[in-house]
Amino acid sequence: MTTKNENSGTKTESFRVERRDDGVAVVLMDVPGVTMNTLNARFADEFDALFGELSAADDVRAIVFASGKADSFIAGADISMLEAAKTAADATEISQRGQGALNRVEALGKPVVAAIHGPCLGGGLEVALACHARVASDHRKTKLGLPEVQLGLLPGAGGTQRLPRLIGVQKALDLMLTGKQIDSKRAKRMGLVDEVVPNAILLDVAIETAQKLAGREAGDEQGGHMHLPDADELQELALTKNPLGRKVLFDQAEKQLRAKTRGNYPAPEKILEAVRTGLADGFDAGLEAERRLFGELTVSPEAAALMSIFFATTALKKDSGVDDEKVTARPVTKVGMLGAGLMGGGIAYVTSSIAKVPVRIKDRDHDGVLRGLRYVREIVDKRLERRRITKLDADRLMTMISGTTSYDGLGDAEIIIEAVFEDIELKHRVLRDTEAATGKETIFASNTSSLPITRIAEGSAHPETVIGMHYFSPVHKMPLLEIITTEATADWVTATCVALGKAQGKTVIVVRDGVGFYTTRILAPFMNEAAHLLSEGAAVDRIDDALMDFGYPVGPIKLTDEVGIDVGAKVGKILLAEFGERMQAPAGIDKLVQDDRKGRKNGRGFYLYGDDKKGERVVDESVYTLLGVKPNNKVPSAEIAERCTLQMVNEAIHCLGEGILRSPRDGDIGAIFGLGFPPFRGGPFRYVDTVGAKQVLERVEHYRDRYGARFEPAPLLVEKARGGATFY
Ligand code: NAI
Repeated sequence: MTTKNENSGTKTESFRVERRDDGVAVVLMDVPGVTMNTLNARFADEFDALFGELSAADDVRAIVFASGKADSFIAGADISMLEAAKTAADATEISQRGQGALNRVEALGKPVVAAIHGPCLGGGLEVALACHARVASDHRKTKLGLPEVQLGLLPGAGGTQRLPRLIGVQKALDLMLTGKQIDSKRAKRMGLVDEVVPNAILLDVAIETAQKLAGREAGDEQGGHMHLPDADELQELALTKNPLGRKVLFDQAEKQLRAKTRGNYPAPEKILEAVRTGLADGFDAGLEAERRLFGELTVSPEAAALMSIFFATTALKKDSGVDDEKVTARPVTKVGMLGAGLMGGGIAYVTSSIAKVPVRIKDRDHDGVLRGLRYVREIVDKRLERRRITKLDADRLMTMISGTTSYDGLGDAEIIIEAVFEDIELKHRVLRDTEAATGKETIFASNTSSLPITRIAEGSAHPETVIGMHYFSPVHKMPLLEIITTEATADWVTATCVALGKAQGKTVIVVRDGVGFYTTRILAPFMNEAAHLLSEGAAVDRIDDALMDFGYPVGPIKLTDEVGIDVGAKVGKILLAEFGERMQAPAGIDKLVQDDRKGRKNGRGFYLYGDDKKGERVVDESVYTLLGVKPNNKVPSAEIAERCTLQMVNEAIHCLGEGILRSPRDGDIGAIFGLGFPPFRGGPFRYVDTVGAKQVLERVEHYRDRYGARFEPAPLLVEKARGGATFY
């Protein structure tokens, strides 16, 4: 290997340069004061100046661009920079500066090789794309992707143009429209990176590649052999190089997109437009479209909402869950899991496989224990099948779980989570048994979905250790964990459970105890309003479609089938007893339960569940007869969506006003991640801020005048409307 010339280093605020004797300059990006590199407002200017200097330097033949951080290449653009953009033109200018800087790298006249280790996302991948070759480490932390779409944006530094040219339109669209992140092996397979090597030799290989490219350009090497296109490439050519092929490709993509987004998300459509323009009218026209559309998206309300979710989840990652900063989480080395059913199995999985904390599951009998173990094994096997983990990993993960039918081996667990049947006497019994088998400071966390934690804690000898950990089904897929504290719960207990939840991969909100906590409480009036609409004659599928058009992933009636009509009815009664009129179900809805309709689980619900009806939704028309209604189109879809949504929003405001929620932020995240509130609307509180509290109050009062007390506005909504105030 050639030696480094230490004396000729250049240094700017974010970059260090090592000029080597062999003519390769190694640029290391190292933004001061942060662990991850991001592209900030100064990036384009600094980067430009640096590459200008390297371009002019006669002794530099080639450049390697790498990160000076331990485990991050560039995690993306610093999106707080975009908050400074007040108009579309401002944002277009930001994009244009980025495009300009990267165009100059591409046209530098000297080869630039990206050495990628750690996250290489968004603007980071766009930097790598502008380089002439990419070498990536095989490390699991190395991830490549363009996640802009998830923030309601598009890649604005040439990504929409360079990616399709490098890997083909179809693969590029898949990456850009989903925002997914891929590992370096997959990136190599799709041609996104040229080589994958262990991190230990990443820089050496990148330097060698740079030397080779420099040599080739200087004519040292013969310029390659003739390349014959393979079948994939031929198809790609047919689709992109001729206008008709392009039309077919983009029409198809747009149709699929529309079916998914129902027109609610402008970013994916604009990504298509930028790519299509670039293919039809050339690279420069593509860049022009890209920056113009980037500008439009940046100031769109959808992007504002999606970015607010990003900021909220980032803030939650740092939130200990308690206000006292001195309180810290205690270490958890073992978790006991009581009840290994649907929820217990899922919780055991995220604890052992994601948080990597050993779990001991206890069920009533061996069959129960076995069911739990099998549940975990199945998820692990699926990940193995998809090559997310190795056989060795899978076996190792399974050794983290053991099972028992007694309390043996639970004494040294710091947290016991219970997910036994929903029955207060049973919960009290397992609580007493747990306390007899464990220490005074063992945390007892209940996954109850409807019993107040305070009631469960009544059976405890040390209620400060009792808390709620409310997971959502299926546990390994649903992102939210709602932690419920009582008046007695100790802060260290809360902080310890929040830390465990985060380690399990969850976004965690902490709410105060009360009937229905937060999520169940706001879901109930939403589903209840759908039942009222149904009893007024709105058709099952019209109700669901209206809410899906509004942006929910499933409609409320379908959701009732999924949750269980019996469960919904039971919880509804509990909420009615606590909150009165506004939770009142329409007369006649009990007939469904009496008809043994439990929803999907017994194949009898609002929809038909035949064997071969996979994915197809067919309404079971006999529900109309049962309810004594004739479906009609009297209530417009917009009203259906608005009524259900306002019920959820109004109840969320009650929760904030009563101190169930710690902040509007938690309320928005809980509704979006737990219940599927439309992300592009930013959550119930952001929704009110966007529409205006005064306008929302007017709508709620309008419905109250028509439908009565269940639309009585929450006091805090009235207050906000009167004061012209916002939640944020
Ligand atoms: P499940 O019926 O699938 O599982 C309950 C398990 O508890 C069974 O394996 C049963 O054998 C076991 N069990 C019963 N008595 C026991 C005892 N004394 N000791 C140890 N194990 C015992 O029920 P699922 O759906 O998992 O629900 C469990 C809890 O989670 C309930 O409180 C439920 O309200 C709550 N929950 C359920 C959600 C869901 O979507 N299913 C969502 C959120 C919470």
